Amino acid sequence: MTSFAFHLDYTDPTSRARLGRFETPHGVVETPIFMPVGTRGTVKGIWPDELREMGAKMILANTYHLALRPGESVVKDLGGLHAFMNWQGPILTDSGGYQVFSLAELRQMDRDRVVFKSHVDGSMFDLTPARAVQIQEDLGADVIMCLDECPPHDAPAEKMQAAVDRTTRWAALCRDAQKRPDQALFGILQGGTDQAMRERSAEGLLPLDFPGYAIGGLSVGEAPADMYSTLDFTVPLLPEHKPRYLMGVGRPIDIIEAVLRGVDMFDCVMPTRNARNATAFTSHGLVKMRNLRYQRDTRPLDANCNCPTCQQFSRGYLRHLFQVEEMLGAQALTVHNLAYYQQVMRDLRAAIKSNSAQEFRLDHLARMT
Ligand code: GUN
Ligand code: ZN
Repeated sequence: MTSFAFHLDYTDPTSRARLGRFETPHGVVETPIFMPVGTRGTVKGIWPDELREMGAKMILANTYHLALRPGESVVKDLGGLHAFMNWQGPILTDSGGYQVFSLAELRQMDRDRVVFKSHVDGSMFDLTPARAVQIQEDLGADVIMCLDECPPHDAPAEKMQAAVDRTTRWAALCRDAQKRPDQALFGILQGGTDQAMRERSAEGLLPLDFPGYAIGGLSVGEAPADMYSTLDFTVPLLPEHKPRYLMGVGRPIDIIEAVLRGVDMFDCVMPTRNARNATAFTSHGLVKMRNLRYQRDTRPLDANCNCPTCQQFSRGYLRHLFQVEEMLGAQALTVHNLAYYQQVMRDLRAAIKSNSAQEFRLDHLARMT
């Protein structure tokens, strides 16, 4: 229905990387973009204005969690997700399909309906393609996602094909259910790491002419090399002039590898979740903040970072906060990790613009070891 015009600004002559932009009712999004994850209507541990100040343009929220609590009608009555959480930038909501298959206790799957037990209180819920769209219309995000089935990466061929075909059928039902003209509904490819399955998924979804396409079913336990080779044959199946979104990915190196293969959009809990586990992403690799070696370390976490955490706190202080389980530790690392991801994306966009995306990848690899 809705098409947020996606403009391709530049294509790297040395890889499939590209620079683009699309307009949403809540502002312009430049790609490649990383979207911090705000599952339950908050990016855990950080204020919306801090997100904005570090350059985060678009965030993700989850249909499954918000439908369970507080319920989409509550969010709708409080003015929709943007007003509810006071985030005035673009928002994308995931459809709930993935969460039902990963978090809830699956009770029954009919042709076009999943019945599951809530992971919160054990109550029974069901989700259909039309209902997933209706919830996302009530939440009011700018980009909404089709309900899909994400099978394990090593599912047997028949099961993988059934999931691809179900995801295609559900995508058509989602499109038919869409009423709001101001939201862009993206299709999701499935098919694991198998080329024929990905081709089957693309053949089913492309005629539905979605304004954007996501690649689902990756980063679910397969080796990174298998994810990269899957992107090598999957991205070229997608329309050139529409955004491509790799769901749930990943480490900075995964994002860089995927951008070089033509992906435009990413989300992942890693920067926020790792922060709460005292693990920092830095320009010189992963740092485990609880390590004794930082006890008397006066240096900032990352000398190359200008985030509020690196401007104000020493490693010794951050280690102390985690040792005594003060919540500022998790908050400070969340700010840093998300700022680091945003800096990687800015640097990556600049590298594409100057035809040095390949060098950027090599430089990143060299600094991580
Ligand atoms: N998040 C990460 N992977 C997936 C996927 O395959 N489907 C959906 N809907 N969300 C995801
Ligand atoms: Zn920092």
